[in-house]
Amino acid sequence: MNESRPPILRIRDLHKWYDDLHILRGLSCDLRAGEKVAIIGPSGSGKSTLLRLLMTLESPDSGEIEVDGQAMWSTTPAGRTVAAGEDVLRRIRAKLGMVFQHFHLFPHLTVLRNITAAPQIVKGIARDAAERRAGELLEMVGLADKANAYPAQLSGGQKQRVAIARALAMDPSVMLFDEVTSALDPELVGEVQDVLRQLAHQAAMTMLIVTHEMQFAREIADHVMFFDAGTIVEQGAPEQIFSAPKEDRTREFLQRVIDR
Ligand SMILES: Nc1ncnc2c1ncn2[C@@H]1O[C@H](COP(=O)(O)OP(=O)(O)O)[C@@H](O)[C@H]1O
Ligand SMILES: [Mg+2]
Repeated sequence: MNESRPPILRIRDLHKWYDDLHILRGLSCDLRAGEKVAIIGPSGSGKSTLLRLLMTLESPDSGEIEVDGQAMWSTTPAGRTVAAGEDVLRRIRAKLGMVFQHFHLFPHLTVLRNITAAPQIVKGIARDAAERRAGELLEMVGLADKANAYPAQLSGGQKQRVAIARALAMDPSVMLFDEVTSALDPELVGEVQDVLRQLAHQAAMTMLIVTHEMQFAREIADHVMFFDAGTIVEQGAPEQIFSAPKEDRTREFLQRVIDR
């Protein structure tokens, strides 16, 4: 890995409040291009909030976020936290793709239109090129035969694979996955995990994966971050975090989730 390149994601001292709830408490981390990072940690610790901040669905109260060397949120000399201009934000957003726990497909559009809509409208890609790319992505997620189906005709696992294809159609450099298998029936988890595994084999793709499946995190990630109460309590190689955690809070969390 080229250590001299700036990280693709650089987060410094990020704070987020909801009313009097201090959700993110001085979060800092770096992601290098191509890294596959798993975020684990208890419910309510701020994992989804972090991903939503990266997608500009929320604003931080203070702190800095840089994507691929470009400031998204920065601190002025007077200490104010400010967002980048709209054109910079648009460029940054184009580098990030997100898949949510609850799919968020457009119910009135076919699978194919779900995938081609944003490339055509946001990126101005011609319809036939967008459809060709959508076809390749559907092939990749094993749903080539569902192009003309509507979301309501699909299983949860199939919907989630469409959601992944839809995010990939925008050609992001960083993919954010927020507990993408936790709304699925157990027998459908594997097919979605398989798609994530396949993506993880692409060296250029940076992946930030929030998951409560420890075995999967261990297998897919080259770096694991343990979140608790709005900060990263501990991070390191999967082997270290899962086999030899240094912090009590990590140990307690792992005992709790693995004994279940
Ligand atoms: N829009 C919101 N308004 C108020 N509180 C929120 C909002 N979104 C999340 N929270 C609260 O922030 C905390 C962290 O939430 P979240 O980031 O979803 O945690 P996680 O994904 O780790 O479970 C939770 O206590 C949640 O109730
Ligand atoms: Mg969450």
